[in-house]
Amino acid sequence: MDLEHVGQAYSSVADLYIELFGSSQQVHVDDLAFIERHLSNRSGTVLDLGCGPGHITGHLRSLGVDAQGIDLVPEFIAHARTAHPNGKYQLGSMETLDVADHSVAGILAWYSLIHLPPEDLGGVLAEFRRAVAPDGALVVGFFDGDEVSAFDHKVVTAYRWPVDELSERLTRAGFTTVEHVRRPSDGTHRPLAAIAAIAADV
Ligand SMILES: C[S@@+](CC[C@H](N)C(=O)[O-])C[C@H]1O[C@@H](n2cnc3c(N)ncnc32)[C@H](O)[C@@H]1O
Repeated sequence: MDLEHVGQAYSSVADLYIELFGSSQQVHVDDLAFIERHLSNRSGTVLDLGCGPGHITGHLRSLGVDAQGIDLVPEFIAHARTAHPNGKYQLGSMETLDVADHSVAGILAWYSLIHLPPEDLGGVLAEFRRAVAPDGALVVGFFDGDEVSAFDHKVVTAYRWPVDELSERLTRAGFTTVEHVRRPSDGTHRPLAAIAAIAADV
């Protein structure tokens, strides 16, 4: 699936997405705690890649983190700049980051790798590994599943990942998993998972 298609799909529902999900109060308390546990203690820039409306970037900034948001969708970046005027938000793709090698303290990819076809994941993780400093952190939120499989996400096709398999992909890309959490379906939401990892020694 090409990036343009993903960007256009989110553009077409941007207002609704912002209304439904565009505040840190709408993020599950356990998810915010997980993100904070691994990213709020970072000194240096933390990139929120696929930041959407910028609410988690803004939340991290409120904790003193130099968080910066990047997203494909102009409507999200415009909203983020207005809603979080002290934030730094840029239109762009996580596939090519405009940062020096090993220069960022952490990366958050919260439900933003979900639309990547599995064969494209390695290239994006290699770009993340290029960007993060030694011991830099990576936090990923995603849909949990028994096997890698596509499903009809409300915005555009997405992929479920088993935690072990995504963790293995992170290892191959040069990250070491330090914590993972899983939240089974509650009947309304799909099973969810998150992994926190650090850049492994090379
Ligand atoms: C499910 S939303 C998650 C947004 C936000 N992280 C949140 O938790 O609400 C997925 C986001 O990832 C963005 N995205 C997908 N692929 C991207 C890419 N290659 N580069 C930058 N952003 C991307 C989409 O535009 C969308 O805003």
